[in-house]
Amino acid sequence: MKDIIRMKTSLSEEIETMLNNQVKMEAKSSSIYLSMAAYCDQLGFENSSEFFFKQADEERQHMLKIFRYIADAGGTPVTPEVTDIPQEFESFKGVFESALEQEIEVTKAINKIVSVAYKEGDHASANFLQWFVREQQEEEFTARKRVELFEVIGEDGVGRYMIDQKVPDIGPPAEPAM
Ligand code: FEO
Repeated sequence: MKDIIRMKTSLSEEIETMLNNQVKMEAKSSSIYLSMAAYCDQLGFENSSEFFFKQADEERQHMLKIFRYIADAGGTPVTPEVTDIPQEFESFKGVFESALEQEIEVTKAINKIVSVAYKEGDHASANFLQWFVREQQEEEFTARKRVELFEVIGEDGVGRYMIDQKVPDIGPPAEPAM
């Protein structure tokens, strides 16, 4: 029975499991960003709150993208249960440090799936995941820049207010000139 099920999908069991774990990771990221949005709102940092609301939406889109890929490849996507979402953070700066750590973990997880996909000769999955490789490059870059704002501007006086103003302005890295 198990073998017949596997004939219906182009995914190996290992890749399917890894992709489902990634679905869960993206769903969890989405919920954590939502929690960060609420925390920043409570502190009065409206731009940062808005930014994290958008991030929460983006992560949900990432989750759906992988979920659909599993389904389209004939696999069985697992609707994720998301638990252990922090409701409080150490500080305004701590939120951005956590966001960066989270993105670094996602990058590592994506890279692992790509490596296994190549090892198995699953070029379709490796190809599909290239979008995420690029996305993570951008997200890590911008998350790092946001943490740097705390060093560049400083938190004293109107510093945190200024940081909140700058948070939405951080864009992706410039494309290399051709
Ligand atoms: Fe979809 Fe930034 O993790």
